[in-house]
Amino acid sequence: MTETLAPPPVEPAPRRLFIKTYGCQMNVYDSERMADVLRPLGYAPTETVEDADFVILNTCHIREKAAEKVYSELGKLRILKEEKAGAMTIAVAGCVAQAEGEEIMKRQPAVDLVVGPQAYHQLPELLTRTARARGERIGADFAPDDKFDALPQARGVQGVTAFLTVQEGCDKFCTFCVVPYTRGAEWSRPVAAVVAEARELAARGVREVTLLGQNVNAYDGAGADGSPSSLARLAFELAEIPGLDRIRYTTSHPNDFSDDLIAAHRDLPQLMPYLHLPVQSGSDRILRLMNRKHGRQKYFDLIDRIREARPDLALSGDFIVGFPGETDRDFEDTMDLVRRVGYASAFSFMYSPRPGTPAATMAAQVSDDVSRARLHALQALLTGQQVAFNAAQAGRTLPVLFERKGRHGRQAIGRSPYLQSVHVENAAHLIGQVVPVRILRGQQNSLTGELIAEGHVSSPGAARARPTGDA
Ligand code: SAH
Ligand code: SF4
Ligand code: F3S
Repeated sequence: MTETLAPPPVEPAPRRLFIKTYGCQMNVYDSERMADVLRPLGYAPTETVEDADFVILNTCHIREKAAEKVYSELGKLRILKEEKAGAMTIAVAGCVAQAEGEEIMKRQPAVDLVVGPQAYHQLPELLTRTARARGERIGADFAPDDKFDALPQARGVQGVTAFLTVQEGCDKFCTFCVVPYTRGAEWSRPVAAVVAEARELAARGVREVTLLGQNVNAYDGAGADGSPSSLARLAFELAEIPGLDRIRYTTSHPNDFSDDLIAAHRDLPQLMPYLHLPVQSGSDRILRLMNRKHGRQKYFDLIDRIREARPDLALSGDFIVGFPGETDRDFEDTMDLVRRVGYASAFSFMYSPRPGTPAATMAAQVSDDVSRARLHALQALLTGQQVAFNAAQAGRTLPVLFERKGRHGRQAIGRSPYLQSVHVENAAHLIGQVVPVRILRGQQNSLTGELIAEGHVSSPGAARARPTGDA
């Protein structure tokens, strides 16, 4: 009698997940969380889309170009899916999914499911019923608390820095912006949930968290006693977590900048002296048309107060040129504001009319040629400021959080308090640590530094302490 051997157990083939992320840091966070949700189903990330069993495009609707990219990417994916005889599931997530879910389904039949930003915790369930899900627009109308409650506690992040979403949505309704429509009303996660996630991150070796929200300083999550907590109070709680050396937050709105947050910049060493504080325009007339609900003087005054509390604070911002009705004079006001404030870094965009927003139908749309010329002029000014800011770090000693190996030898790359990349030789053994570095020189996009034997980190210099008032 021949003995039949039991066949060796067959390992289920690992399923490969490819996520392409567009847009802001909140989408980066969401993409990481989608991977976390799918990990228990056996999905492991792949870097090559051709290998993927499941492709997610996590999309952005903020400007026309961003949204259009999705359709061209989907065109390429359709061909790939055909080559693989259909053995690939395609999902569209994020803000385009939310804004144009039905249109996506109509325009691109290769798409299997569309999932809005508040529903990605349902991906496992959606995947098991893709056939049925097709044609439905999933998850447009869920409250964010469902999402966050359903997410796994464990995060798969690797590395020493991490994003942590604490606030979602926007109630501001700037007349150019789609975010209030794609992300819904302002909502904050409870303090305990944020603290638990930050602890988990710190336990995994994360040394720096960036708290995220479309209006992060409008944060008002419930504290232990149920009453709303401010972002400053949250930052103080997070600063108690062992191992968490650095706290950042983005994006702030000037109107939500409270006194306790300013004080936190003075009193909380973990809070990095670098602030993204978009103003969009330097013209009071345009700010009014944009519905920003503050003028240029208020922005100057606010910056003066923050710099008084933290003299070495550096700023970054967002600007839009060519908003409907913007004249040369209005644009000059923006240039003037930039000269007065002095930015360490900034993003600037040509106005892009977005369907459904009030500005899209305003009279006096500015021509592309004029907008482009203004953008070039503004970017030249901002780049000059960035180069000068980086160059001004030469000779300073800055605390650098080393994040990863450099391209050659034992070089390592870290971040200064101002988010500049700092390249340092013979520092590969310091990854994960904050170490004083003497800055040798500053280039446009990075700094070069060297380790000092026993270091004293220089106290905050006054590199950016320029007066900003209109006086
Ligand atoms: N909540 C943040 C911004 C989120 S959107 C804030 O209020 O500052 C990120 C940036 O995209 C904005 O700051 C703005 O500069 C730009 N942006 C938004 N809508 C735009 C549009 N329709 N055209 C061009 N740029 C736009
Ligand atoms: Fe958009 Fe204005 Fe809200 Fe920022 S504050 S997300 S620009 S509506
Ligand atoms: Fe884009 Fe949505 Fe972020 S529109 S900028 S991905 S909130």
